[in-house]
Amino acid sequence: MAKLTLKDVDLKDKVVLMRADFNVPQDEGLKITDDTRIRATLPSLKYILEHGAKKIVLMSHLGRPKGKPVAKYSLKPVAERLKELLGLDVLFLNDCVGENLKPDIGKSKERIVLLENLRFHAEEEGNDANFSRQLASLGDIFVNDAFGTVHRAHASTEGVAHYLKSCAGLLLEKEIKYLGDAVRDPQKPFVVILGGAKVSDKIGVIENLLPKCDAIIVGGGMAYTFLKAKGKQIGNSKLESEKLDLAKSILDKAAQLKKEILLPVDNVVVDTIDANAKTEIVGEDILEGKIAVDIGPKTVKLFEEKLKTAKTIVWNGPMGIFEMDAFSKGTQALADFIGGLGCVSIIGGGDTAAAVVKFKLEDEMAHISTGGGASLEFLEGKDLPGIAALTEKDK
Ligand code: 3PG
Repeated sequence: MAKLTLKDVDLKDKVVLMRADFNVPQDEGLKITDDTRIRATLPSLKYILEHGAKKIVLMSHLGRPKGKPVAKYSLKPVAERLKELLGLDVLFLNDCVGENLKPDIGKSKERIVLLENLRFHAEEEGNDANFSRQLASLGDIFVNDAFGTVHRAHASTEGVAHYLKSCAGLLLEKEIKYLGDAVRDPQKPFVVILGGAKVSDKIGVIENLLPKCDAIIVGGGMAYTFLKAKGKQIGNSKLESEKLDLAKSILDKAAQLKKEILLPVDNVVVDTIDANAKTEIVGEDILEGKIAVDIGPKTVKLFEEKLKTAKTIVWNGPMGIFEMDAFSKGTQALADFIGGLGCVSIIGGGDTAAAVVKFKLEDEMAHISTGGGASLEFLEGKDLPGIAALTEKDK
């Protein structure tokens, strides 16, 4: 059932309560090091203001403070950044619930208000009904633009939607469109690239997308459990030994379905994982004592051959330890190649998005998801509570 979006609702003179995902990385001095998630909400904020809303009350979490106020997780730096990005004053309030909150919002001359971190209250993650009602009392309508948090059934993502007319913001709508089309109706050939450390993190995605895609490319730490399952030597590379049978059964299932699973044919290896470690390129078999940290150049070519005719690419998980420059070449080469293809390229949030940002290739991709866990669960085909709770279009 289609959900209401911002374009379906009357915003005139309304106080709009909007959930954003301002869970942004900060350095030790609490300086925001990547404001992508803040910038991603600007289209909704501008749209709401331009359509005559009286005020926008913004709420978010930051980090995992476990139900108590923790100074380093305050959203105050986000209020400052929003002010710079919007060129408008932003009122920051020191709590997200409480008696004085509504009158303070009512009196404020600012049209944008940001509440303090929702997770300073245990009731947020507990999806407490009373807490949800208190949040709902702050607005006339609820907009969820926090794609990164829609997989959480929390008070501000799920609970609150039961007490107000609730719609998807422009970011959430865009995420649902790109990821939803890829899952339901991808333009073919459809190639999925999976990487990152663990097979166990990607099982759900493999199970959901294997029947729908034409091929799955596997790199990163998870590739070595598959290579071991195929009888290759993997030296001291990442292995989930308890997932070997699962890896075998995935390879068998792919063969039955006549879907290709492409694995590394050469690897960058080191003796110890250290940014300055001496690297060596070896073939499929890795000697005892050696650790694979990136895919090799032949693998890059093999993967590019598969990708060059793709019309849809979904990429979740880097090909190596891209955070260390010496081990980032495989991930960077694929990112460069995909960026030049002009196909529907969808980059999962989290590490893959961080890699694309590191290589300054954001503008070359069709869509970079702002959700790490959320994009993964979406690709697994799961119902996400923050989306499910929104008002249906015909209501
Ligand atoms: C994220 O960074 O993936 C989201 O903000 C969700 O955060 P969480 O995993 O702490 O719920």
